[in-house]
Amino acid sequence: MYKTILRPILFRFPPETIHRLIMTCLKIGGKIPGGRALIRSLCTYRHPSLEREVFGMRFPNPIGLAAGFDKNAEAYDDISALGFGFVEVGTVTPKPQPGNPRPRLFRLPADQALINRMGFNNHGVENMQRNLRGRDRRTIVGCNLGKNTLTPNEEAPADYLRIFRCLYEYVDYFVVNVSCPNVKNITALQNRESLYEILQGLFDFRRGQNQYRPILIKISPDLDFEQLDDMIAILKETPLDGIVATNTTTSRAGLQTNKKTVNAIGNGGLSGAPLTARSLEVIRYVHEKTEGRYPIIGVGGIMTPEDACNMLDAGASLVQVYTGFIYNGPAFVKRICKLLRQRAEGPTVPVSEKPTETSDQK
Ligand SMILES: Cc1cc2nc3c(=O)[nH]c(=O)nc-3n(C[C@H](O)[C@H](O)[C@H](O)COP(=O)(O)O)c2cc1C
Repeated sequence: MYKTILRPILFRFPPETIHRLIMTCLKIGGKIPGGRALIRSLCTYRHPSLEREVFGMRFPNPIGLAAGFDKNAEAYDDISALGFGFVEVGTVTPKPQPGNPRPRLFRLPADQALINRMGFNNHGVENMQRNLRGRDRRTIVGCNLGKNTLTPNEEAPADYLRIFRCLYEYVDYFVVNVSCPNVKNITALQNRESLYEILQGLFDFRRGQNQYRPILIKISPDLDFEQLDDMIAILKETPLDGIVATNTTTSRAGLQTNKKTVNAIGNGGLSGAPLTARSLEVIRYVHEKTEGRYPIIGVGGIMTPEDACNMLDAGASLVQVYTGFIYNGPAFVKRICKLLRQRAEGPTVPVSEKPTETSDQK
């Protein structure tokens, strides 16, 4: 019903308007007595075979919502009622910032893709702390950290540390985002020296705390293999807990959408189906080079339940979706969970093919 009725209607309106509408509906649904429970009972698929133990935490299933959807941690519990095993909020920056001028989010239906240049629009870390304070912690919430656009790269470590300290007791894991293609020069921080500097402050702060919070870095699909090796070296040489792979790409290779339309959209990160193969390649590479010793959260181009399985098979411990959720609707997570359960239980043999007892076997 979503693809045939609802999506064609929603896709008639600007994507950011629809995103705000969906967030509002989720929040209202969550406030109506019994609303969230109803959504949960319709959308959530629970089974012991779906549970995963990662970073010492028990995830009800391995499917998360990727960063960028709930930038201000306004609706994480309502989103989790849609069946997600965890929700990554943010990217949050120390100070509130408006992001890039609109329009900044575009659909490419012919490619099952989105292009965005949101530019870390968010209400700042203090607002996020208020939204997370006093939460009941049933939903696993990760937080994606960024720097303010106007903060020069040399001062970026202080931005990341400020958010980390402010939210340390309120979220379950952190992701250092240096891979967003929409914030000027931030991807230049994806080198060993800059990352060490950013991470050192976080490790030092964490050492003095009673609670342990995993720290991951989110990497770009546009890194070459040499740069990927640098990221892997950081993973091996520091107390970093894992990698989120991948963010959106600046590449426009192989798109079906006509060139004129793509050029008119302009800059931004491409997500969805065109990213599937590259994200998978990056995950497989990192998994093989690290001999599976570090958790990978796989994200990028999961558009079908089979894509999610492929990513887990390639070495991801958990996966996240964003664009696939927009194109497939609220039943998407349940569909992935059903396939995962089927696979965990092995192939079911159709009745007609069941081995029958022959006289020889008797
Ligand atoms: C509209 C939009 C906003 C996003 N904002 C963020 C963000 O703030 N921080 C971040 O780390 N990734 C952000 N992303 C990237 C996603 O988290 C994800 O890595 C990427 O879209 C690839 O996954 P997908 O193909 O399932 O969409 C955003 C993606 C989209 C489409």
